Amino acid sequence: MKFFVDTAEIEPIRELAATGLLDGVTTNPSLIAKSGRDFMEVTREICGIVDGPVSAEVVALDHATMMKEAEVLRKIADNVCIKVPLTVDGLKTCKALTGEGTMVNVTLCFSANQALLAAKAGATFISPFVGRHDDNGVDGMDLIEDIRLIYDNYAFETEILVASVRHVTHVLQAAKIGADVMTAPPKVIHDLFKHVLTDKGIEGFMADWAKTGQSIL
Ligand code: G3P
Repeated sequence: MKFFVDTAEIEPIRELAATGLLDGVTTNPSLIAKSGRDFMEVTREICGIVDGPVSAEVVALDHATMMKEAEVLRKIADNVCIKVPLTVDGLKTCKALTGEGTMVNVTLCFSANQALLAAKAGATFISPFVGRHDDNGVDGMDLIEDIRLIYDNYAFETEILVASVRHVTHVLQAAKIGADVMTAPPKVIHDLFKHVLTDKGIEGFMADWAKTGQSIL
């Protein structure tokens, strides 16, 4: 499963990229606003840090203007992936852009039927929002299972990008279902490394090593 980080903050992206485990970045208008940075400038900077897809979202709601915005965004770098909302105009834009060889991430997916439409529109990625479903008392992971089943039934190449990830259990469940990608805030990715027994084990080994009085270097 590929790991994308869901943020527009440069330092966490640099830190995770340095681990060699980061496959891409997703942003959205809310994350850009939170960063306080200029959209074009911060997107360019992110594209220079990671080689994988960097999602940059259009903000127009009509197809013609979405295409104009995508034209500007895709010139930023070769690894820009245009993010469009799951609407009629968004999917028209998706079809046109992927037909031209541009990567497209279809966002704000909340049903398996929507995911089916996105795959038919040639989406590179579909982003189902699991956390927001959970917030509404619906198990977001059921949606991922349904989309996996449908995409496998028809051998769709659209990658399932699990979004709105809130905790490490979402990551585990996404991997068990066989999602292609997950995008999570930096904290959740850092939490994946942690286990209390790992910390305790290191503590014990260090204490015993000190007793030997030896050094490797
Ligand atoms: O980038 C889209 C998605 O990951 C948003 O997550 O936490 O705002 O529901 P959240």
